[in-house]
Amino acid sequence: MKIRPLIMADLPEIMTIECKACRFPWTVGNIRDSLKCGYLCFGIEISNKLIGYAILSVAAGESHVLNIVIDPDFQGQGYGTHLMRYLLYVAKRHGAGIVFLEVRSSNKKAFHVYHQLGFNEIGIRKNYYPSEKGREDAIVLALELHEEADFYYINHLIIKS
Ligand SMILES: CC(C)(COP(=O)(O)OP(=O)(O)OC[C@H]1O[C@@H](n2cnc3c(N)ncnc32)[C@H](O)[C@@H]1OP(=O)(O)O)[C@@H](O)C(=O)NCCC(=O)NCCS
Repeated sequence: MKIRPLIMADLPEIMTIECKACRFPWTVGNIRDSLKCGYLCFGIEISNKLIGYAILSVAAGESHVLNIVIDPDFQGQGYGTHLMRYLLYVAKRHGAGIVFLEVRSSNKKAFHVYHQLGFNEIGIRKNYYPSEKGREDAIVLALELHEEADFYYINHLIIKS
């Protein structure tokens, strides 16, 4: 397994994963803009095949996880947790003291992953996401960063950046 920065040439593979995994996928324009505008964008690969990706912003000591997606064929095997841990490591290395994210109130799997990593619920954004029934609330989560994020990655992952 390898985590590496994404490049424009990854766009088709990213969109394939996004459309396969998400009921309301980001558009190709959303992803392209994220790659262009200076967000920190990472892919997770197995045998040189992209199986997931994530997008992070860091500014003024705060970080936001904007998206994280694992190909459904590879979900439930720990890759989402690994990629999230890597984002926490990167956020901390870029000077963030806290990481925020939003998750659909119905997204129990993602909520579980974030909760396991220590994220706490800090609020609700009413009707934040489109849904099959109209709109759906977002749960806002936050995690304060501590030293162990660094330790985990020095010992457990091969990182190319
Ligand atoms: C959320 C996501 C990134 C997680 O990636 P993943 O590789 O499947 O995650 P992991 O394998 O590391 O962990 C999954 C955990 O969820 C648990 N889980 C699975 N289904 C669950 C459910 N319905 N309810 C609660 N927990 C669930 C698993 O048991 C596992 O927990 P464990 O490690 O304690 O056993 C992935 O499911 C995904 O891409 N989903 C679609 C896109 C998305 O929702 N992104 C998040 C946007 S906020």
